[in-house]
Amino acid sequence: MDVLIRLPRARFADTIRCMAKYEPFGVIPLSDRQWPSHSLTKAPVWCSVDLRDGNQALRAPMSVEQKLEFFDLLVRIGFKEIEVGFPASNDTEYTFVRRLIDEGRIPDDVTIQVLSQARGHLVKQTMQAVAGAKNVIFHLYNAISPVHREFTFGKSKDELVALAVEGVKNIQQYASLAGEGVTIRLEYSPEDFSGAETDFAVDICSAVIDAWEPTPSNPLILNLPTTVEHAMANVYADQVELFIRGIESRAFSSIESAPVKRGAVIISLHNHNDRGTGVACCELGLLAGATRVEGTLFGNGERTGNLDIVTVALNMKTQGVDPCLDFSHIIDIVSAYTRLTGMAVPPRQPYGGELVFTAFSGSHQDAIRKALSARTHANKPDARWDIPYLPIDPRDVGRQYQEIIRVNAQSGKGGAAWVLEQEYGILLPKGMLASVGAAVKKQADYRQRELEPSEVFAIFKAGWLNTSSPLSVLDLAETHVDGSDASDNVLCRAGVLWQGEKYAIGAKGNGPLAAFAAALEQTPVPRFTISAFHEHAIGEGSDTEAMAYVELSFTDGSRHWGCGRSTNIGRAGVYAIVSAINRV
Ligand code: KIV
Ligand code: ZN
Repeated sequence: MDVLIRLPRARFADTIRCMAKYEPFGVIPLSDRQWPSHSLTKAPVWCSVDLRDGNQALRAPMSVEQKLEFFDLLVRIGFKEIEVGFPASNDTEYTFVRRLIDEGRIPDDVTIQVLSQARGHLVKQTMQAVAGAKNVIFHLYNAISPVHREFTFGKSKDELVALAVEGVKNIQQYASLAGEGVTIRLEYSPEDFSGAETDFAVDICSAVIDAWEPTPSNPLILNLPTTVEHAMANVYADQVELFIRGIESRAFSSIESAPVKRGAVIISLHNHNDRGTGVACCELGLLAGATRVEGTLFGNGERTGNLDIVTVALNMKTQGVDPCLDFSHIIDIVSAYTRLTGMAVPPRQPYGGELVFTAFSGSHQDAIRKALSARTHANKPDARWDIPYLPIDPRDVGRQYQEIIRVNAQSGKGGAAWVLEQEYGILLPKGMLASVGAAVKKQADYRQRELEPSEVFAIFKAGWLNTSSPLSVLDLAETHVDGSDASDNVLCRAGVLWQGEKYAIGAKGNGPLAAFAAALEQTPVPRFTISAFHEHAIGEGSDTEAMAYVELSFTDGSRHWGCGRSTNIGRAGVYAIVSAINRV
């Protein structure tokens, strides 16, 4: 038989058929779809599946200790539903669930969720794993799509319905193993919902509803996975809307009609990201009527991953909807996540990536800088956020806007100054920018490449910072002279080396700089006056040092800047004078 014919093509009547390796998915027969005119006004119930779906996709699954730490992180973020694993699948999963319960680590308002297939022995073992917990969601699943019916199970639709109902009955039968006082809710996932006929998904879920008999006080969760993304996000939204309509229109033997509207059935989304549209599918699925979302931090999960809950939640925040999850210290979450999973968060991952609050382009930087400065001057921290290029205030996720200036032969003088400031805390005075910028540019041009911050610093250091040739200070002593004229109250004595000759010098002045400058007149160094002076502290605590910048005007009309750094502010100024003379 031709494999193309055996594949589940033409799921819907109006699918365009073409005998090619790939075919269009088709459209959903829904002409009066409502979801496009809905909007999101409330956060869904979030369920983290990091410890199950995310964990099963790791090269090295997390250990019990790592899972315990991850669980605590999820609780701190604010998840109230957490899928903790597939306890019947292996010892680590089982032990982890037991430790959560036995060590009283599950807060009262958090419900753990455990996954199992329908078979009796798995259900039994899963019930034993959750014995003693307060609130449990038992997550039952089986794949329902044509590819799975045909290739994976070789089962008919009726046989799959029977399997799902058997799973429900097993849960009912073994529920007592979880002990008295445990509230067990059921979640049923028709796996590969997005690749299945929506009317069959309605059939199998209706059979589950009838078997479980949910009520608004113990609602059933129907979870609709894009186990694999097969089509565009609008198709998934149509599937969700069509599914909900199908469930609402069914007559059930055991429960009232319209179970979704009445709260006996909760519609949940579980998106993967094969087409890179997990977030879009989730957002449109919410518009289509779902009120619960399963996903993982930063989208960890099989293949291209699960839905990134961080992105969906923070997208909501940017629309003024409180996501009810706390990502105000996202960098801490990134580092815990990378440490525990061994996965990386790419630099351009929305909200959490290293570069998402960084602008490289000069025009972007300019626009952001102007808008941020207007916002600062308006001094209304709660005013509407409308900064170009930044959809969210970086501070709301514990971050800062960062300009990145590339330092290469095309860079302006600001580039080197920015790097020295950002990386080394050096605040060059305006008058120094041109000469430092020119030296850096010359080197970049010579090396024919972009310069690293360390290279920019090395150029600055060699040319300006505490330089010692042809003039250097061998020793220096300053004394405050009591009772003398205020303009002459510092006595400076120094030994200096000028072009290889030693000089012992001394003079008074109205400060260490003036006294040293006066003393230098006893040597052959070019004559000068101090025309500008700047200083600032650098470093913190006991490592604090002084940076001094001095501009000297020489008798030949030239002007030169120098820079000195020392733990002693007076010495930093003296070294700055020496450095300026060394630039002549
Ligand atoms: O992606 C999926 O279909 C799943 C199910 C177990 C819900 O992870
Ligand atoms: Zn999944």
